[in-house]
Amino acid sequence: VKHILMDVDTGVDDALALIFAVKSNKLHIEGITTVFGNVDVKQATENTLRVLELVQPPYGIPVAMGADAPLFRPRRENVTAIHGANGLAGYELPESRQLPVAEKASDFIVRKVREQAHDITLVFTGRLTNLALALAKDPSIAQKAKLVLMGGAIQVPGNTTPVSEANIHGDPEAAHRVFESGIPIVMVGLDVTSKAKFSQAHYHELMNGFTDEQAELQAFLHHMFTFSFEASERLNEGKYRLMHDPLALAVVENPSLVEMKDYYVYIETKGPVSSGATLVDFRHPQSRTNASVCMQVREEEFLQHYIRTVLS
Ligand code: BDR
Ligand code: CA
Repeated sequence: VKHILMDVDTGVDDALALIFAVKSNKLHIEGITTVFGNVDVKQATENTLRVLELVQPPYGIPVAMGADAPLFRPRRENVTAIHGANGLAGYELPESRQLPVAEKASDFIVRKVREQAHDITLVFTGRLTNLALALAKDPSIAQKAKLVLMGGAIQVPGNTTPVSEANIHGDPEAAHRVFESGIPIVMVGLDVTSKAKFSQAHYHELMNGFTDEQAELQAFLHHMFTFSFEASERLNEGKYRLMHDPLALAVVENPSLVEMKDYYVYIETKGPVSSGATLVDFRHPQSRTNASVCMQVREEEFLQHYIRTVLS
């Protein structure tokens, strides 16, 4: 079992990742921190608690609220076309009985990494703001934890600007600090997540697998996927849901799903188009590296594993 701390900006694919992580018998979630991104941090926290209430983890999972803005910039985002006004495609999940803990996300991360007896993997599927703040409080956590992040794009176009992916673009200074911190990084970027297309065929397979007891989860997932299919069709992208965040969790579970290459990834922080770009100098052999970048994925195996895990 791998012990993980998740950091999420619960939107649609973060919710899909949370459900997968709770259901996985190879992952144990030690805690979840939240960050602005797809929605503001209060909404991300609320969404996270409600998704946990829906899936009923067999053990307690503390949730700590984090940053509501990038380190040095105002927050500006509008992704309601992709994630709906509340981040969960407008779906109203029942309220949760759980409250967030009083501790701030960055303090929570520092304490959990220091206290943890096992190896701990931080899995970030949103902006890296909370981790940058945690590293500022205690730089030594870079030697005690590993990071798997969903973010960036080294050989394919971005999704927020022509060259930048949303999680890096949303707080480039935070990403820059994290990539320069020395923490071991596995980067699950658009290079692989843009291939992880959950199609209508996958949707039917999933829907047909639910039992009557799982009707609430089924209704929620039905809504997440049908909303996503319509959204991607509107954007002329075809009828599928990109499984960005779930793929990061699946890579933690089973790294052999992907092929990785070690690179030095430089995070650009300047320029209206270029900030948030994840740059690799492919001209020369890498004399120094800071990340293992996922370059290839066996996507159908991942998607089938996702379906099986959610139905378990
Ligand atoms: C990332 O951006 C967010 O909108 C998604 O949740 C995912 O983490 C993809 O670029
Ligand atoms: Ca996310």
